[in-house]
Amino acid sequence: MDLTEAVKGRRSIRKYKPDPVAEEVFRALMEAVRWSPSWANTQCWEVIAVRDAKGKSELATALAKGNPALSAMTEAPLVIVLCGKKGVAGFKKGEATTAKGDWLMFDTGLAMQTLCLTAHTLGLGTVIVGNFDHQRVAEILGVPQNVEVVAITPLGYPGAEGIAPKRKETSEFVFNEKYSVKDKL
Ligand SMILES: Cc1cc2nc3c(=O)[nH]c(=O)nc-3n(C[C@H](O)[C@H](O)[C@H](O)COP(=O)(O)O)c2cc1C
Repeated sequence: MDLTEAVKGRRSIRKYKPDPVAEEVFRALMEAVRWSPSWANTQCWEVIAVRDAKGKSELATALAKGNPALSAMTEAPLVIVLCGKKGVAGFKKGEATTAKGDWLMFDTGLAMQTLCLTAHTLGLGTVIVGNFDHQRVAEILGVPQNVEVVAITPLGYPGAEGIAPKRKETSEFVFNEKYSVKDKL
């Protein structure tokens, strides 16, 4: 599968088979994450892998009942919680380098994209989950104050394919030279 195929073909997967994810497959995913780009190569990401059924059920309580990824949290054999160390990405000698402050969300986002695309190329499904009680997850997993819980993804073999939601046309977000000059493509 080439990269464009992977980018276009990856879908959010919300139904999973119970089949386990082999340890070497998990390791291959983490190896891919390791090579994600980051601010000054600061690599602020940290990953917590939850395989225990009780642990997954506890994590699921941090999602609202209406979250479409709720059942996937306990259905998937593995749940990955992506965190970021605070005050690292975008910082030099303890001072923020840009007005944006901490680039933690950006760098962990890149790591998550690496994870999801690599998982897809290996036949695995993911769904990025951002809408949950982050404080509750931090408490459940014993995440320290200097580390922020960012996003979660269940990981496993898809039990059903995802449906691709419609995308904006490129002409709706591409500008030429200045913000106001819309692309004609
Ligand atoms: C930052 C972020 C947070 C998300 N949070 C949730 C979520 O809480 N629950 C859920 O079911 N999907 C969540 N999604 C998945 C999106 O709904 C999904 O990526 C989008 O609809 C496009 O569908 P696709 O991933 O199949 O291309 C999230 C995606 C991102 C990038």
